[in-house]
Amino acid sequence: MTFRAAVITLYPEMFPGPLGVSLAGRAREEGKWSLEAIQLRDFAADRHRTVDDTPAGGGAGMVLRVDVLARAIDHARAAASNEILPVIAMTPRGRPLTQARVRELAAGPGVIVVCGRFEGFDERIFAARGVEEVSIGDIVLSGGEPAALMLLDACIRLLPGVMGAPSSGTEESFENGLLEYPHYTRPAEWEGRTIPEVLRSGDHAKIAAWRKLQSEVDTRLRRPDLWERHEGARVQSASGARREKRDVDQ
Ligand code: ADE
Repeated sequence: MTFRAAVITLYPEMFPGPLGVSLAGRAREEGKWSLEAIQLRDFAADRHRTVDDTPAGGGAGMVLRVDVLARAIDHARAAASNEILPVIAMTPRGRPLTQARVRELAAGPGVIVVCGRFEGFDERIFAARGVEEVSIGDIVLSGGEPAALMLLDACIRLLPGVMGAPSSGTEESFENGLLEYPHYTRPAEWEGRTIPEVLRSGDHAKIAAWRKLQSEVDTRLRRPDLWERHEGARVQSASGARREKRDVDQ
């Protein structure tokens, strides 16, 4: 099955961009995913191909018009008439993208991504067309295109047959709610810096325990938000297990 990506943008020439090389590029050549870059301006109604207008209530910048956006989304949806694709608008006002959401998207038939420019989208488009707003972090880009490339990259690498070793996808950061442990390779000593002795011990149980600990310590120090969620989930599942045991015992 081919994962279908459609991107609505004022800069279709930005696609596939980095997704045309390496893993994603090869996967596209192999038909594992397809890409349609749709020019938003093609859906303007006037001679000047206008896509934006001044903000209601005044203020700086321009806003993407709801009617133009709707026509572009309807076109992208009609092209995938046998499937219902989620529509995602890239915007710093959106919900932060997570690996869990990426996994859901990658398991589906594809995605329609709408890239914002200027001050953003006319708000009415989201409810009118069931558009999900997604942010790739608390930073402001000059447009949604690099964010769309990130979203698609994260999905494509999870498609069946795209990634070489399957374990590299399940052990990595966020898959278990933690950051991944640190990696080392040869040379064993470099500029006076050595590799942790345990990694050269050949004792797989000890190595696994060391990696688990590193993963936990790094997450706690670098991402207290992730750690809190992880600990919350652990405490909850432990109390759930206790409850189940009590129910069985009774
Ligand atoms: N467009 C501009 N900034 C963005 C962000 N942080 N995430 C998604 N889309 C954006």
